[in-house]
Amino acid sequence: MKNQLSVGVVGCGYWGPNLVRNFRSLPDCRLRMMCDLSVDRLGHLRSLYPEVEGETNYDHMLNGANLDAIVVATATRLHFPMAKASLLAGKHTLVEKPLAWSSAECEELIAIARKQGVVLMVGHTFLYSAPVRKIKEIVDRREIGDIRYISARRLNLGLFQKDINVTWDLAPHDISIILYVMQERPQSINCRGTAHVTPGIEDVTSMTLHFANQRSAIIHSSWLDPRKVRDMTIVGSKRMIVYDDVALQEKIKIYDVRVERPPHYDTFAEFHYAYHYGDTYCPYIKQDEPLKTECQHFLDCIRQGAAPLTGGESGLEVVQILEASSESLKRSGAPIDILPRSGAASSKTGNAAAGPAAAPVESGARDAASRVAGILH
Ligand SMILES: NC(=O)c1ccc[n+]([C@@H]2O[C@H](COP(=O)([O-])OP(=O)(O)OC[C@H]3O[C@@H](n4cnc5c(N)ncnc54)[C@H](O)[C@@H]3O)[C@@H](O)[C@H]2O)c1
Repeated sequence: MKNQLSVGVVGCGYWGPNLVRNFRSLPDCRLRMMCDLSVDRLGHLRSLYPEVEGETNYDHMLNGANLDAIVVATATRLHFPMAKASLLAGKHTLVEKPLAWSSAECEELIAIARKQGVVLMVGHTFLYSAPVRKIKEIVDRREIGDIRYISARRLNLGLFQKDINVTWDLAPHDISIILYVMQERPQSINCRGTAHVTPGIEDVTSMTLHFANQRSAIIHSSWLDPRKVRDMTIVGSKRMIVYDDVALQEKIKIYDVRVERPPHYDTFAEFHYAYHYGDTYCPYIKQDEPLKTECQHFLDCIRQGAAPLTGGESGLEVVQILEASSESLKRSGAPIDILPRSGAASSKTGNAAAGPAAAPVESGARDAASRVAGILH
């Protein structure tokens, strides 16, 4: 493997420049090319990074530049055709979230990546963030007991999208975090929402994921809210975690509170709920840019031929839930079953490899997690 992998980023609108900046900052890669249809966007980025070539033709980028890896940061509808072309050209491919517009498209991308022996990874950025990784550690150590429910809010006066509703835009972040923390797929979901501004494109939605044993997760997504809110509450049987991603410090607070129902009582007068109020504490979290960790992880997976923490299977699981949310919205919030996938690499949250050196899912996911932890520490 070369000392430096050569990388190109396609899509230099709002988000792409963050990928450009991060890949450019990593020593074991050379950001060789930025591609966008807009000559103005390219001109602006080239004024910042004059040593990186600009290109308006994606085919030229794929076939003429001898790149090792492609990063796709265009609108959702373009993810599938662009990622497919990249994989077929033999390039390791990182695709922004959501991986594609349908689970059939995700499955096709996963199959092509396997056949070509290249890494397919999806930009579920929050799984590379230190607060989410800390939450996962706390949950895995069973410090909060059994998860009872999770509630997530991602609201602001948002960047309205033309091709996807607010669930497809914002909820992939929450869904990916919830699947990662729960390590389990929901059995069914339902979603309700309203299109206030653009007919047919919901700008406010509320989705519930129903898991086994009466556990649930509620996700409220909105482009129509005066405040920027990105928070998540994880209610456990012993303790509760509140994660506020907008807070500058103390993003995670752990509340040692719970309520229990006494198992036996003889008369109604004897019946009392047992409330426990203990300390609230904030674990130390080292602040790193999650996107930088994600970009480094992509390069590490290419070098090691290893399964990414957020491989094609993770992208597929999130898209399956998004698809079900669209179906539920059409049916006024009716519950939609999330069927177990036949032939899926895992019944748990999949982080199956897209690359050739795929380890079994459980150990593959663990290895990927420890490789990400290695970047963070
Ligand atoms: N991970 C995150 O936290 C995060 C945050 C924001 C956006 N995103 C994702 O990033 C992606 C891009 O979102 P955005 O808001 O930057 O969109 P955007 O519309 O601002 O940018 C897309 C860019 O793609 C370019 N483009 C379109 N067709 C092209 C083609 N054929 N060839 C080359 N360039 C082409 C456009 O000119 C535009 O500059 C989306 O998938 C979005 O979900 C991820």
